[in-house]
Amino acid sequence: MGPMSRPTGVESYASLLRRRLDRRDFLGATLGCFGAALIGPQAKPSSALGFTSLAGTREDVLEVPEGYRAEVLLSWGQPICKGAGEFRLEEQSGASQSLQFGFNPDFSACFPLEGSSGNRGLLVVNHEYPGPNEMFPGYERARLTPSQVEVQMAACGLSVVEVQRTKDGWRVVSDSRYNRRITSSTAMDLAGPVRGDALVRTALDAGGHEVLGTFANCGGGKTPWGTVLSCEENFHEYFARASVPKGERLQEGFRRYGMLDASLYGWDTHVPRFDLSEHPQEAHRFGWVVEVDPFAPGSKPKKRTALGRMRHEGATPVLADDGRVVVYMGDDGHFEYLYKFVSAGRFDPEGGESNGELLDRGTLFVARFHLDGTGDWLPLIPEGPLEGWSPARILVHARAAADRLGATPMDRPEDVEVNPVNQRVYVCMTMNPARLKGDGGPNPRASNRHGHVLELSEFGGDFAARRFQWSPFMLAGPEGEGQGGQYGRGGKAEPLSCPDNIAFDGVGNLWIATDGQPSALGINDSIYAVPTAGPERARPRRFLNGPIGCEICGPEFTPDFRTLFVCVQHPGAGGGLESPRSRWPHDGSGLPRGSLVAVTGSDGRPVGS
Ligand code: FEO
Ligand code: CA
Ligand code: CA
Repeated sequence: MGPMSRPTGVESYASLLRRRLDRRDFLGATLGCFGAALIGPQAKPSSALGFTSLAGTREDVLEVPEGYRAEVLLSWGQPICKGAGEFRLEEQSGASQSLQFGFNPDFSACFPLEGSSGNRGLLVVNHEYPGPNEMFPGYERARLTPSQVEVQMAACGLSVVEVQRTKDGWRVVSDSRYNRRITSSTAMDLAGPVRGDALVRTALDAGGHEVLGTFANCGGGKTPWGTVLSCEENFHEYFARASVPKGERLQEGFRRYGMLDASLYGWDTHVPRFDLSEHPQEAHRFGWVVEVDPFAPGSKPKKRTALGRMRHEGATPVLADDGRVVVYMGDDGHFEYLYKFVSAGRFDPEGGESNGELLDRGTLFVARFHLDGTGDWLPLIPEGPLEGWSPARILVHARAAADRLGATPMDRPEDVEVNPVNQRVYVCMTMNPARLKGDGGPNPRASNRHGHVLELSEFGGDFAARRFQWSPFMLAGPEGEGQGGQYGRGGKAEPLSCPDNIAFDGVGNLWIATDGQPSALGINDSIYAVPTAGPERARPRRFLNGPIGCEICGPEFTPDFRTLFVCVQHPGAGGGLESPRSRWPHDGSGLPRGSLVAVTGSDGRPVGS
């Protein structure tokens, strides 16, 4: 790894965020519990973990180590907006669902709020996809009703919810003016180079300026100016391409994104814009990163097209030394690529949310890894192999453009995060059983069932650099020679599988949430804490076990690291409602309900310490 000289991003991020929030009069004199520890005593530079690793489980419970408690804060269907009715499974409608917490929570982000000694904040949560078998009693795809489509469309997107820390734990502020749902019908702007291009003009939007809705919202990120980036991942499952004439150039583009002949959810049977034979360009209006300002409840979300169209897992912004915004992004598909965007302009600490326009002008790069431990960021610009491509074509067909440049096919890139202590960039490859032969480098294993984590250092410590160094940080799976897992230098480790979402605590420990352990390891999905320095470097400890059939998503610390928010997505997935595989969170409804959970230490210590 090269020298890492950049001052720590956590502090600059915190002070920048505070300035932004101060300017907008949302914060008082102190960030209190939400913010204090970033500059306070809890951030002492010791990465030691102070809990005993849990054993893996197959029980239908959510477990945390002794000395911690987990409380369910938000569950599918819970009323969050003014006028929302109580959750009644048999009476769900699009109207009720659009005021309630959505389905399948994934990414979560927290922001402190003013005047509360740090005990109030906004949570922003992605709702990735509908689970009709667990949403509608007796659901049959062949008998899908318009009402069921409306409920599904309202259950996807995002929730913004004000939360408050009381002496009894975290609570939802149910009448907050910030509480908001963004759904698959919410109007949003197409921003950036693709706006207005012929590739995104449709019968309903002749100008190519405005899209209805977002869905497939998987991971995301928080910007230095206090907004959220929400990522449209498996958008291809919502469209039907079968009746688009074969041989059309459109079809090649659809194929490259894995578009299905028949849509998975059948929305196209009741909402014509999802039928590509009638509205082929509608598919080009999804697969983007969407920026949402949680502090402005009436604001229109913006699809930031300069960040490219792909199956976006996450989008992690960080500031380069010269103030340019760099956004790291994984495209979650077998043999897809790792990207980063570098803005042309520089961050203005006084500019507030207008900094979002930085995301409209800049360069998208894709990663090519070399076997010598270096790598290049290749610019997707209309030169060389992309001579003659318009900027809009490059962005809409980013995968095809990256193919032409010779980017390195990866084992399903998921989340990317920057370690606030050592400034290295960590990238999860979740798994790729389809890889027949290891590439001898960044994807070393054939039939990669368990995934791995890479550690990157940008040249000169500059996030905007054109070159980087890389090395494997961890190979997941049961330990062993050959194809086995590798976790640092020995000692005790709990093997993990299928790393997906990640986060860092204030002392540089990597927290990994998994998606796939039931089939890969025979245990429920979990969260692990992993030191990135010291004798336990790369050795995971299991901190949280989820219930049956879930994946764990969206680990997010409050800025004081005393609370870890976590999303439990799709408990009991696929089991239906007749005899559910899971009834977690065991709230009396008898239903499996995806939920956001707050984990705190009983003595108020930073989580994991
Ligand atoms: Fe929605 Fe890549 O996980
Ligand atoms: Ca994910
Ligand atoms: Ca996943």
